[in-house]
Amino acid sequence: MTTFERIDKNDAMLLVVDLQVGLFQVVRDYQPDEFKNNILAHAALGNVFNLPTILTTSTERGPNGPLPKEILEMHPKAPLIKRQGEVNAWDSADFRKAVKATGKKQVIMAGITTDVCTTFLALSLIEEGYTVFANAEASGAASRRIADDANARLRQAGVHVLSMFAIACDLMRNWTNQPGAEEMLPFFDKYFSVYGYIARGHAAAVKNGEILPGESE
Ligand SMILES: *[C@@H]1O[C@H](CO)[C@@H](O)[C@H](O)[C@H]1NC(C)=O
Repeated sequence: MTTFERIDKNDAMLLVVDLQVGLFQVVRDYQPDEFKNNILAHAALGNVFNLPTILTTSTERGPNGPLPKEILEMHPKAPLIKRQGEVNAWDSADFRKAVKATGKKQVIMAGITTDVCTTFLALSLIEEGYTVFANAEASGAASRRIADDANARLRQAGVHVLSMFAIACDLMRNWTNQPGAEEMLPFFDKYFSVYGYIARGHAAAVKNGEILPGESE
């Protein structure tokens, strides 16, 4: 019997881990445009749900480079921990301090790479007693095989590996909540086009639609 620990928007923080412009080149398990959308969607969840958000980078003055400017612009006031060489973000005292300062027990996170930046930190967080939700779509690896093995390792350690849509819907819980339909339909239109187009089609049908001959059959 497993217990279903749901994401509580009042007890969750969002971590943006090493989604750096240089590391972007390492990601081979998503198409570049798709992955860019996924990491921006991940970062944007912090603002929609007003989650404490922490940004961190690994050796950003070297080849890994800075975070994308879109993410920096979304979170001008978030702590940005530029780690002093530590690969596992949890090895950085400044990062640990920022995480503890949120007072939250649930962590929503994504990083490049899935097998290193996401996995090492997620396992440290589990050891520290946090519940970890890994946004699988916003973590990238050098191959699908590497991603599969890393995600298996995460699951074995009790990390929840899930999609952005699952994270967003668990945070929302009820379309009538706030944030709910009013905030999330624009969010999905921007970052999850399949749902955005359902909403566009539905709106068009309600405003100006008709059943065409043959359609009702
Ligand atoms: C979801 O929201 C609707 C409208 O406010 C409400 O009637 C319903 O009870 C809510 N569901 C739960 C489980 O709170």
